[in-house]
Amino acid sequence: MKTYTYPKSAELFARAAKVIPGGVYGHLGPAEGCFMPVQAYPLFSSRAEGAYFWDVDGNRFIDYMCAYGPNILGYNDPDVDAAVQAQLKDGNCVSFPTAKLVDLGELMVDTVDMADWAFFAKNGGDTTMFSLMIARAATGRKKVVLTKGGYHGVAPWTQKAGHPGITPEDVANNLYVDFGDFEGLERLFAEHRGEIACFMSTPYYHPVFDDNRLPPDGYWKKVRELCTREGVVLAIDDVRCGFRLDVRGSDAHYGFEADLECFCKALANGWNISAVCGKDWLREAAGSVMYTGSYWLSAAPIAAAIACVGKMRKMDVAKVCTEKGRKLTSGLAEAGKRHGFDLKISGEPAMWFMRITDDPNMDHHQAWVAECVRRGVFFTNHHNLFINAALTDADIAFTLDVADEAFAAVKKDGPLSARKGW
Ligand SMILES: Cc1ncc(COP(=O)(O)O)c(C=O)c1O
Repeated sequence: MKTYTYPKSAELFARAAKVIPGGVYGHLGPAEGCFMPVQAYPLFSSRAEGAYFWDVDGNRFIDYMCAYGPNILGYNDPDVDAAVQAQLKDGNCVSFPTAKLVDLGELMVDTVDMADWAFFAKNGGDTTMFSLMIARAATGRKKVVLTKGGYHGVAPWTQKAGHPGITPEDVANNLYVDFGDFEGLERLFAEHRGEIACFMSTPYYHPVFDDNRLPPDGYWKKVRELCTREGVVLAIDDVRCGFRLDVRGSDAHYGFEADLECFCKALANGWNISAVCGKDWLREAAGSVMYTGSYWLSAAPIAAAIACVGKMRKMDVAKVCTEKGRKLTSGLAEAGKRHGFDLKISGEPAMWFMRITDDPNMDHHQAWVAECVRRGVFFTNHHNLFINAALTDADIAFTLDVADEAFAAVKKDGPLSARKGW
């Protein structure tokens, strides 16, 4: 199999580095994206379609990052994009919202089990911040309990004291507990009785660089009861999992009901919109918080979300992605075994995490991922991967061939630390 090179990406990155801090910053860039070694990765895309993107050098990739989640139906989904184009003809960012705002509110309330109301913004971080503000407005309390290693965006309160730009005051109201540690949560609630506004958590544990963990049996039911008893708002950050596990919300998937639920990534198949859904008892508090943004009620992304949610419901997208994920991940683990590697799969099949075990510093794993990328299968080495509904059996078969050849290359040429020039 031919391996890719990226001269045009490198050229563009050199230009970017002169005018943009970090060149390409954030999760799509080589630093945050942990592109190890950077020579194995493209740095700029030129177009995308279905399950694929093409880089600026003309290389095609099966994209298992799905733009870190938004691509759920396939890039350029014809139904979603037709809804956007039709709306653009009528207008997008205007002095008043269109009737579609109300249509989408009704659709969310009808789709998401826990939802009595819905509120729209742009990014996932807008929704986690708003959830905390609603919880504070409703309870008159300040503190928030977060799970260690969880990610809720980049607002200062979600980051760590000591990180650049973050002060101790930014995180002074945060308390932390391990995911799944019900007794630890109970202890924190008792120690800070009457001070905790909100417990915010993802529905299952999907950190970077670590095995993903599903909620222990009975965990969410007990957490739900505890939050109700203690008057703490239970906010589920479904920004990453939302719609991939269950169109009714990931709380419904795990058999409980959140007070607030945050959605973003898959909501509009890549068009820029996010949502908070909430229970009736928080409606007044939500209405009382000053919270808005220049583009939050723009009509085209709202039209995209209506089309996307409708289509996800119709095709039962979570079931489709879960089945494809099961097929792919079992094949990947088998490919590893054939070459003497134990590839451990964790998390949910529609957005699994994988790593080679007995592999300090992910030395073999990073080399294997790099070998896959150079052959047209875009994985990252530190983050959970994503399935989209446009992925075909032929794509899965191609991926498994690449994975097999990449394992063989790691066996032959060794881990990252053994490679000259990597
Ligand atoms: C669980 C979770 N919460 C919040 C966010 C923040 O979303 P955004 O980057 O759209 O602000 C992310 C983004 O990856 C996420 O995965």
